[in-house]
Amino acid sequence: MILPQHLAIIMDGNGRWAQLKGLPRIAGHQRGVNTVRNVVKKCANLGVRYLTLYAFSSENWKRPAGEVQALMSLLGVYLESEMELLQENGIRLQVIGDLTKLPEKISKSLQHSVSTTQENSGMTLTLALSYGARDEIVRATQRLMIDVNAGKIVVADISEESFSAYLDTATMPDPDLLIRTSGEMRISNFLLWQSAYTELYFCSCFWPEFDDEQLQLALEDYSGRCRRFGAVVTSDCQQQGEFEEKAN
Ligand code: FPP
Repeated sequence: MILPQHLAIIMDGNGRWAQLKGLPRIAGHQRGVNTVRNVVKKCANLGVRYLTLYAFSSENWKRPAGEVQALMSLLGVYLESEMELLQENGIRLQVIGDLTKLPEKISKSLQHSVSTTQENSGMTLTLALSYGARDEIVRATQRLMIDVNAGKIVVADISEESFSAYLDTATMPDPDLLIRTSGEMRISNFLLWQSAYTELYFCSCFWPEFDDEQLQLALEDYSGRCRRFGAVVTSDCQQQGEFEEKAN
């Protein structure tokens, strides 16, 4: 099976899962954390090199204060409780997004987890927090303009490649596969620049229900895709820039 080197996931449907069960929305987020734990472990074991999870969007700040607070507190608990799993599996944690907006306690906790795991050589787990792709592109442009004004880069040298280096995702490859759960079929301001040639996979199950079987179905579907990157297809539909590994 051909695995995506970089898998990105829009974890959607926590609230609806809970509401259908007559539970508060927060219960859905709590169950969603279990799915995060399982998917992180599974992807690391399979050999996925980069896993990026859309955990809190720049638009999610508009949710009721109680829900925002609960999500932040779940994140804090997750960071504490998962350090062992991250270390045992050699997982490196990274964060993308406008981190200046996060509560100080969460920000400190993130810094600690990122620095503790930075030498790990296994999968890179990236949490997108207070993240919006348009916002990321604007922040990248601001940083680029500062360097242009300082004479560090000339306008003629701005290319797709040099611009990418100003994005939050500068150190990682573009996602090969983007999964969104809950039946919604949109990108919702996630990795817009990076997903130019990403394969999209939508599944109807809610995030708390996204189990090993659902992940396997998504990976098998991806494995059968023919990626051309705008070029002419080869006879065996060889996937460029792909990462081949035997999966269980
Ligand atoms: C979308 O469900 C999910 C979120 C906005 C947050 C995702 C958060 C988690 C899975 C838990 C915390 C994450 C980590 C990494 C510890 P929704 O609330 O939009 O669901 P709905 O569309 O059914 O309302």
